[in-house]
Amino acid sequence: MEKDIEQILYSAEAIQERVVELGQTITADFKDKNPLLIGVLKGSFVFMADLVRALDMPCQLEFMGVSSYGNKSETTGAVKITRDLECDIEGRHVIVIEDILDSGLTLSYLMKYLQNRRPASIEICTLLDKPERRQVEVHPRYKGFAIPDAFVVGYGLDFAESYRNLPYIGVLKPSVYA
Ligand code: PRP
Repeated sequence: MEKDIEQILYSAEAIQERVVELGQTITADFKDKNPLLIGVLKGSFVFMADLVRALDMPCQLEFMGVSSYGNKSETTGAVKITRDLECDIEGRHVIVIEDILDSGLTLSYLMKYLQNRRPASIEICTLLDKPERRQVEVHPRYKGFAIPDAFVVGYGLDFAESYRNLPYIGVLKPSVYA
């Protein structure tokens, strides 16, 4: 896998340091709120696993599956739920956990979908943000790193379902996907 990586953007250590900071901030904000963290599969699974261990308070976890219709690079903006919640979120303090915020279409759809279920509050925590790519407005309260518009993999993020298990976040060589 390493031979396909052009550059390491964030080492495992750098990610861990930032995740711990995020965990401390979220703990301070939600200490007495027993938040429900909703991880968006599949990309968020590694971040979610590390983030929850950096939270020093009671909380619960859920996962949802979403996918965009059609080719990712030419997204139509239509999103479908492939795995729904298994619990009622009415009155709960919800934090949606994402690995990456790109066009914003996924989170924009998901936020409306979840708002309709009447949570007490709802916030977004994304590890990565690619602001240059935004097509619709989304406002994450918690953000790990803002990154340039490069094809990144690792720490949960994939190319064609591979590289999710890299412990760092790296830029994929264009020769791999071109
Ligand atoms: C990624 C990521 C977000 C979405 C962000 O998921 O996890 O859900 O894309 O892109 P957007 O802001 O342009 O909507 P992906 O569809 O690659 O699926 P995966 O999590 O299973 O890898």
